[in-house]
Amino acid sequence: MATVTLDEVRKVFAGKPPTVALEGLDLQIEDGEMLILVGPSGCGKTTALRCVAGLEKPTSGRILIGEHEVQELPPRKRDVAMVFQNYALYPYLTVYKNLAFGLKEHKVPRPEVDRRVREMSAILGLDALLGRRPAQLSGGQSQRVAMGRALVREPHVFLLDEPLSNLDAKLRGQMRAEILQLQRRIGVTSLYVTHDQAEAMTLGDRIAVINAGRLLQLGTPEDVFRRPVSLFVAAFMGTPSMNLLRGEVAGGVLRAGSVELHAGGAPDGPVVLGFRPEALLPARSAAGLPQLEMTVDVVEELGNETLVYGEVPGEVASVEIDPTLPPPLPGSRARVAARLQGFTDVHSGEALPLGLRTDALHVFDAATGAALAVEAEAAPTS
Ligand SMILES: Nc1ncnc2c1ncn2[C@@H]1O[C@H](COP(=O)(O)OP(=O)(O)OP(=O)(O)O)[C@@H](O)[C@H]1O
Ligand SMILES: [Mg+2]
Repeated sequence: MATVTLDEVRKVFAGKPPTVALEGLDLQIEDGEMLILVGPSGCGKTTALRCVAGLEKPTSGRILIGEHEVQELPPRKRDVAMVFQNYALYPYLTVYKNLAFGLKEHKVPRPEVDRRVREMSAILGLDALLGRRPAQLSGGQSQRVAMGRALVREPHVFLLDEPLSNLDAKLRGQMRAEILQLQRRIGVTSLYVTHDQAEAMTLGDRIAVINAGRLLQLGTPEDVFRRPVSLFVAAFMGTPSMNLLRGEVAGGVLRAGSVELHAGGAPDGPVVLGFRPEALLPARSAAGLPQLEMTVDVVEELGNETLVYGEVPGEVASVEIDPTLPPPLPGSRARVAARLQGFTDVHSGEALPLGLRTDALHVFDAATGAALAVEAEAAPTS
């Protein structure tokens, strides 16, 4: 096994104008670690993986596997295996032969090929399918074969580019658990790209959030979710997204819409107040907390929880993450989401009193987007 280091990796694709896909990316994946790479579409995730695999050559910067610089080596000399979203199995070969294919290419002796194929097949639960062809497999089974084909080579580094995105939600959840078990069992250093928040939060030892070819934050799932370093990371992680209201700090008091708080440590000036949907509580269980009233428009009862969307006084702070989404409505009402426990008797059109958990607030500098260290406390109602 080995660590993987990206040192100031820059990748510019020629063209008019040229595209800067990676802008000096620094990243270190520990030996045996599962590192998740997330970021908006086009931010350079696939390019980063392809550079590690040797399918793209960085314009500048170094890539190390263990102690060895590999950026000049061809893919087959790197001991890296990659699974893509659109993995293609060889349609005319059986599962067994699909698994064995890469080993034969590498001139592994036949008994050793057989041993490794059977071992991988047992790990992945493919024993009963070894004689089938890809057309006779379900989506999840094909995905397992694709992973097996990559791992049977016993690579030092395993790269996965949205490997589950073609599967339906339930199967994705099941495969997620399998991948985690498999990765733990084999202990291969892995870099995993996903758009799926649940995958990122549950699979990763650590998560790297990148945007525009740069690393924004690298930390445990808890770090990036609970202690985002910037407005962008805060808005990117979590579904529904963190609620963000424009506010102002004056003399240690933060006002954002109808919310008023003591914000110890915050410098005077414009800020953005962030709170996740789960930081909003029904007012009856939120005595002593800052209150705000939501005019409910959509209620989604999900069984174990209810998502309530509506408007509160204030102005939404917009963070451009997905340029295809409509911008927030202008005016003095802000759309926010609340996540409440279980079923509720909340209905569209109602005024819903909510309390805001002060231990789960985030305050960002409105100009730079940097997270500010703030001790929030409910302001006594005057
Ligand atoms: N071969 C190429 N030639 C020119 N530009 C490219 C090439 N490959 C990628 N790009 C550009 O580089 C940028 C990063 O692309 P990349 O595929 O790494 O994004 P991504 O983060 O994987 O996005 P997605 O989430 O949509 O898969 C994009 O602007 C893309 O258009
Ligand atoms: Mg991609």
